[in-house]
Amino acid sequence: MGKELLSIVNLNKRFESAGGHVQALYNVDLDVQEGEFITVIGPSGCGKSTLLRIVAGLDRGFTGSVTLGGEEIGGPGIDKGFIFQEHRLFPWLTVEKNIASDLPLGNKEVRRKVDELIDLVKLNGFEKSYPRELSGGMAQRVAIARALLRNPKILLLDEPFGALDAFTRAHMQTVLLDIWRANKTTMIFVTHDIDEAVFLGNRVVILEPRPGKIRKIVPIDLPYPRKKTTTSFQELRLKVLNYFEKVDDLELTDGAGI
Ligand SMILES: Nc1ncnc2c1ncn2[C@@H]1O[C@H](COP(=O)(O)OP(=O)(O)OP(=O)(O)O)[C@@H](O)[C@H]1O
Ligand SMILES: [Mg+2]
Repeated sequence: MGKELLSIVNLNKRFESAGGHVQALYNVDLDVQEGEFITVIGPSGCGKSTLLRIVAGLDRGFTGSVTLGGEEIGGPGIDKGFIFQEHRLFPWLTVEKNIASDLPLGNKEVRRKVDELIDLVKLNGFEKSYPRELSGGMAQRVAIARALLRNPKILLLDEPFGALDAFTRAHMQTVLLDIWRANKTTMIFVTHDIDEAVFLGNRVVILEPRPGKIRKIVPIDLPYPRKKTTTSFQELRLKVLNYFEKVDDLELTDGAGI
């Protein structure tokens, strides 16, 4: 850690529609260091997905500056991996072919990389299975492996475990941390779940809605692996929750935005 990878300066994004406009992001500033794990949390509609999509190069028409490795974000590319809430695997392809995407598995280098990723996400024995034969957590592990195939500089995860049951979700959090520690890929992880944000992140970015802006960034100075039952974890969780409640108050009193 230490070297700056992503720099977001004065980012503003506004959606225009027939009925008016929505200021989805307002004066957002955020620097992310190489190897950092950032979690982003905030109420529905506060701009979490918009922020990720802009970093991914999927959404244009913003003002401000967003650079990755010193270069302005162009379009989507192999330097940015994206994981959605649903796995978005190809149902007609096996696990290994989903991971290889458009690269030929017959190629030795591709084969080696796919095997390495299957080890990493612990899906050995399921190489030839189809998505319909997998549990939700397993399918999401395939999606993570696929996103890592081309060694992206950054992995962007938009509520990737939101559709999973509590047990699978807790397991996937540990799997993702193992991957992060093994690969040192920089992560930005969006969630609605405060426990998840505090469990995973080096820093928790709390967004507030209308207009979508950063309310607070809370550093989580706890060593990994973390335990959700410890006093220090609970203290940080309460700290984040406290800011969250302030967001709710704000929503009630200041719903009109700008
Ligand atoms: N394509 C679009 N056109 C118009 N408005 C949009 C569009 N995408 C998002 N918005 C608006 O921008 C705001 C932020 O949306 P965004 O999807 O980023 O929120 P979010 O924090 O990801 O919410 P959730 O937690 O529900 O996923 C919302 O008010 C939404 O209605
Ligand atoms: Mg969203």
